[in-house]
This record gives sequence, structure tokens and C-alpha cells, in this order.
Amino acid sequence: MSPARRVPVDSRVYAPAPGEASDVEIMPAGDVTDGVVRVGGTIRRPHQPQSLAVAEYLDWLEDAGFEGSPRFLGRDAQGRDVLTFVPGRCAGAQPEEWTQSEDLLASVARLVRRLHTASAGFVPRAHSFPPRPVRPNPSDAAALICHLDVTPQNVVVRGGLAAGLVDFDLAGPATALHDSLNTAMHWVPLRDPSDAWPGWEDQDPFRRLRIFADAYGWTENERRRVPVAGIDAAALSYERMRHNAAVLGGGWARMWEDGVGGLINRRRAWLEANAEPLVAALTR
Ligand SMILES: Nc1ncnc2c1ncn2[C@@H]1O[C@H](COP(=O)(O)OP(=O)(O)OP(=O)(O)O)[C@@H](O)[C@H]1O
Ligand SMILES: [Mg+2]
Repeated sequence: MSPARRVPVDSRVYAPAPGEASDVEIMPAGDVTDGVVRVGGTIRRPHQPQSLAVAEYLDWLEDAGFEGSPRFLGRDAQGRDVLTFVPGRCAGAQPEEWTQSEDLLASVARLVRRLHTASAGFVPRAHSFPPRPVRPNPSDAAALICHLDVTPQNVVVRGGLAAGLVDFDLAGPATALHDSLNTAMHWVPLRDPSDAWPGWEDQDPFRRLRIFADAYGWTENERRRVPVAGIDAAALSYERMRHNAAVLGGGWARMWEDGVGGLINRRRAWLEANAEPLVAALTR
């Protein structure tokens, strides 16, 4: 829709068309947001502090021609955010074997690259993203608005390839390297072998990271920075998780009790121990 014809995000109201499907399907639960449902061709999510900043970002992405994000349609009679349903399938909490496809991995990297290209120039105006707790990203100065949570559960797959991104709850200013490395961390994945998902024990993280790097298009300089950037991101992520568990509770506290802090520390140690072979795999 042309920007001029759009209702501002804070007064956009969703009214279903007469006869529109109204069957309700409960979506697979994530870690934090309860109550995500599908109603016909829409997704309903609880309204959150970041919802309107995200809505502005989704408008921008639509105008920039990015095809892989939901549209913010407004709020429904219950005050929930209404987004377009992006057809396809997402991974479950323990990513299934079909998500190991190298073609899928490369397509995730390309999709995130297109997201970053489309995001360039977006500056939140009427609604700002809530500041992230603990400390800002080290390179926040670059301030490219990014997704920052491109997990297997938040990528919509069609025909075996990444077609869409959902769940922009953590979107905010970062850098393209931070967001793409975060995506690789989830999708390669970069974690200690003892934390492999069932059925993923034989996957080669060096080979998969190289596929991701080539498909995203990391420069030589970015490839050399991967271990240090990954170690720093793990340290930041540990502090944020601990902070959110203590201050926000809910799903954050559940994740903390389930041992996410240990998982992040083991990832950090694995990155430290494998810094050299990682750079070698990325640059040879
Ligand atoms: N716009 C959408 N189109 C298609 N499917 C969606 C859409 N939004 C959400 N889903 C599906 O619903 C699931 C849960 O929704 P979502 O990721 O938004 O919340 P969540 O993961 O519960 O939140 P959080 O990650 O904050 O805990 C997703 O993994 C995806 O399968
Ligand atoms: Mg999610």
C-alpha cells in the first residue's frame, strides 16, 4: 500500500471483511509470547510495548519491496495485533531433520541479506524500539534495524527454501554482522557438540558456517571477525538472559531455569576453542 494511504500504526483498526474465515488455530508456543493464534488468513498476537515500532518497520519493509515479512493490519476488537499469516511451515522447538538441508541454510542467509538491504534507511519515527537491557550492542552506532531472532522457529519455509520471517519481537538497532551472525548461530548452529539437537550430532558446523557465509556474502574482514564477534555476542546474550529472567520473569525465567545460561557459556567456550579453525573454514 502506498505510504500516503496508510492509517498511522497507532490508529489502525482491523475489521474483518464480511464472511471472512474466523476459525481459530493455536500456533506452536515459543518461549516468551503466550497466546499466538491464527484466525483465517491472519495471526493474532498480544499487543506489546514494541508492537508499534515493529508495525512501522513492517510498513517500511513492505514499501521497500521485501516479500518475506508479515503485514501489520491493525488491532482487533480484543486489542491484539493482527498480522498477515505467512503460508509455509516453521521448525518445531527441536528442529526436525528436514531443517538440516544445506539449500535451506543458504536460502536463510540470502533472505536475511535481503532483509538488511531492505532495512537500510529505516529510522523509527513515531514509535521507538524499547532499549535493550544490560548494555547496548557494541556497534550500535551503525544502527541498522534488524530482526535479531532468526531462529528455525521464526523462519517460514516453502518448497524447501526460506520464504518468510515472523516474530519481530526482538527487532531493533544492531549491525548487519551482528544479526547475520546471530542467524548463523541459530541455524548452523554454533553451539557446543554436547548441546546438539537430537539427530544433529553429525552435522559439520565448519562446513555449514561456510555455506552460510558464502550465501550471505560476508566480506573477508567480516569472516575474520566472526569468532570475536560471536564470543562478545554470547557474553551479551548471557547478561541479557539473566537480566530478563530476574526482571521480566515469565518465559525468560523458565528458559533460565532450564539452563540456557549454561548453554550460552558452553557456546562461548566452544567459539574460543575453535576460533582458528572457524576462520580457516571461512577464508580458505
Ligand atoms: N505471521 C505469521 N505467519 C505464519 N506463521 C506465524 C506468523 N506468526 C507466527 N507464526 C507461527 O506461530 C509460531 C509462534 O509465533 P511467534 O514466533 O510470533 O511467537 P513466539 O515464538 O511464541 O514468541 P516468542 O519467540 O516471543 O516467544 C511461529 O513459530 C510460527 O510457526
Ligand atoms: Mg517465535
